[in-house]
Amino acid sequence: MHLHRFEKIWLMVGGATLVLFLIVLSVNAYAMGMMPPSHMKMIDPKKVDETAPFDNLGLHKTGDNEYDLVMTSFIFTFQPNQIEVPVGAKVKFVVTSKDVVHGFEIPKTNVNIMVLPGHISEVTHTFDKPGTYLILCNEYCGAGHQLMAATIVVK
Ligand code: CUA
Repeated sequence: MHLHRFEKIWLMVGGATLVLFLIVLSVNAYAMGMMPPSHMKMIDPKKVDETAPFDNLGLHKTGDNEYDLVMTSFIFTFQPNQIEVPVGAKVKFVVTSKDVVHGFEIPKTNVNIMVLPGHISEVTHTFDKPGTYLILCNEYCGAGHQLMAATIVVK
């Protein structure tokens, strides 16, 4: 088979680009250890209620105005659904799903994670301003998706 010189060059450029992308991808995945923000903590999604820390939901003080907020999500709500925290509180959200994939977003903050059954998702936020904050599900999870929310009151 005879290939034109330009055709050969073009094929080599295409092949080199492909190899370059695979190298970049591999370096990111293996050398830099990129992984989901949950750090891959796992849980049996059928036994969430019996498994720590989800056998004790709610706000737990861990330090000076620092808290762990342990929550579950399931169609179509979060539990607990109404949470009060003091102003300035540094809250680590520890969340899992009991059924399907849900979202966990607090608008106008950096909190925006996916909640997957079988995984424990964590994200930390400091509530510097008093007010009422909404936690929303932003992954379509079924017929009641738009109702899925919880409230954090900071005061
Ligand atoms: Cu949960 Cu949408």
